[in-house]
Amino acid sequence: MKAKQLLTTFFLPTLGTTLTTPVQTGLDVLIANNYTQLSGRKVLILTNPTGITPNLELGVDVMHRSGQVDLAGVLGPEHGFRGTAQAGGSEGTFTDELTGLTVYDAYNVNTSTLISYIRDSKADTVVYDIQDVGVRFYTYTWAMYDTMLAAALTNTKFVVLDRPNPITGLNAFGPVLKERYSSYVGRKPIAQAHGMTSGELARMFVGQGWIKQDANGSDLTLEVVKMDGWERKMSWAETGLHWVLPSPNMPTPDTALIYPGAGMFEGTNMSEGRGTTRPFELLGAPFGNTTWVVKMRELDIPNTNYRFACFTPTTSKFKSRISCGVQSYITLTDQGDYERFDPVYLGTSLLWTAKHLYTSGTKDGFEWLKTEDTGEYNVDLLVGSPLIREGIDAGLSPEDIQKQWMKGLEEFKGDRGKYLLY
Ligand SMILES: *[C@@H]1O[C@H](CO)[C@@H](O)[C@H](O)[C@H]1NC(C)=O
Ligand SMILES: *[C@@H]1O[C@H](CO)[C@@H](O)[C@H](O)[C@H]1NC(C)=O
Ligand SMILES: *[C@@H]1O[C@H](CO)[C@@H](O)[C@H](O)[C@H]1NC(C)=O
Ligand SMILES: *[C@@H]1O[C@H](CO)[C@@H](O)[C@H](O)[C@H]1NC(C)=O
Ligand SMILES: *[C@@H]1O[C@H](CO)[C@@H](O)[C@H](O)[C@H]1NC(C)=O
Repeated sequence: MKAKQLLTTFFLPTLGTTLTTPVQTGLDVLIANNYTQLSGRKVLILTNPTGITPNLELGVDVMHRSGQVDLAGVLGPEHGFRGTAQAGGSEGTFTDELTGLTVYDAYNVNTSTLISYIRDSKADTVVYDIQDVGVRFYTYTWAMYDTMLAAALTNTKFVVLDRPNPITGLNAFGPVLKERYSSYVGRKPIAQAHGMTSGELARMFVGQGWIKQDANGSDLTLEVVKMDGWERKMSWAETGLHWVLPSPNMPTPDTALIYPGAGMFEGTNMSEGRGTTRPFELLGAPFGNTTWVVKMRELDIPNTNYRFACFTPTTSKFKSRISCGVQSYITLTDQGDYERFDPVYLGTSLLWTAKHLYTSGTKDGFEWLKTEDTGEYNVDLLVGSPLIREGIDAGLSPEDIQKQWMKGLEEFKGDRGKYLLY
């Protein structure tokens, strides 16, 4: 059988089936309302393999089949619309075989290019439906931001189909970005772990005047299709939703829990576990050894534990070289745990111990990486400020470094409160 026939026979039996989960995502609510929010609109949709129904069908495919949505095309983010690209990659612009829709390559393209896509597709509405992981340096948020700008500049309506924050919406953690460190991994002053949904972030971008400011005064019409049944305290498991890996190195909801902190290892020459099946939980390098676990345990961080782990990355840093270090385990059981556990503090402690253990004069050891083009420290772009790197280099303790970001974080939390929907 050809692939297309397979897909047809696969899709047909599920027509009309309604699965009920404790949480209905924005997409589920839209479908249940017969797409009234989109009636009479011509829709360009920014989505990826996470834009699914409880039946595990892609929203675009369901909309296309329903004949009730006038689809103008698809915008594919990092890793692509159907998810065929690795980190830092995209699928290019092409015609989707299943739907016949044009898929525009929207990964890290400028505002003019996004505007040209909107014009080319003749859309009057852009819909966003991507599962986020709650971390500022996850690029889908900024793909959303950039597309909101393009929408403002073309008088195009923007609709967010909301989804849960998989690490809960209880609290925010870590440094707030300083605009001087604005990049594709963080454009605006939000906390490293923001504790918001994409719909709430979109409201904040508009409400804080950031869209107007960057779109030269042009305003944006924003609509959020809220979830039904989501509560801020819900862990991913409690939502009843299936996990679709939002990017190749985000295999499980546990990865999302550790990512706000361990993700900072991307800014070092140590392996952040890319090229293993447990990215970010596994960290190491050929120069790593058992002492790292000992040092981490000495810090006595609640809700965490560590084991000495060795692994051989199949891609990325230290490809095919045995690397050793730690596997971190986070155990959060009740609401209080989720409210208090600071993943950025954990990440800072992992960096702090690694840097102090493995910096040696002439031998291979820990290094902060710099970007090839601008020579900035990658970790500063991830953190949105030099605060963590400089604190570690100056020999401050993880507690003292954390204290330095608290004032900015409290201010952010004050603003954030205005945009919460749940
Ligand atoms: C959606 O359409 C179906 C079939 O036309 C109808 O039975 C149902 O009541 C509609 N639901 C809403 C919320 O409009
Ligand atoms: C935007 O990107 C396109 C394609 O790379 C390029 O041709 C164009 O000059 C860029 N526009 C601006 C304003 O930078
Ligand atoms: C806003 O205007 C400035 C100055 O005219 C220009 O350089 C910039 O590209 C414009 N930004 C956008 C998003 O159009
Ligand atoms: C681990 O490596 C560090 C840095 O080279 C060294 O100081 C330490 O003694 C090593 N630990 C063990 C158990 O070999
Ligand atoms: C890490 O730094 C050492 C020098 O200390 C260097 O030999 C090694 O190539 C670096 N590794 C990576 C992945 O950049």
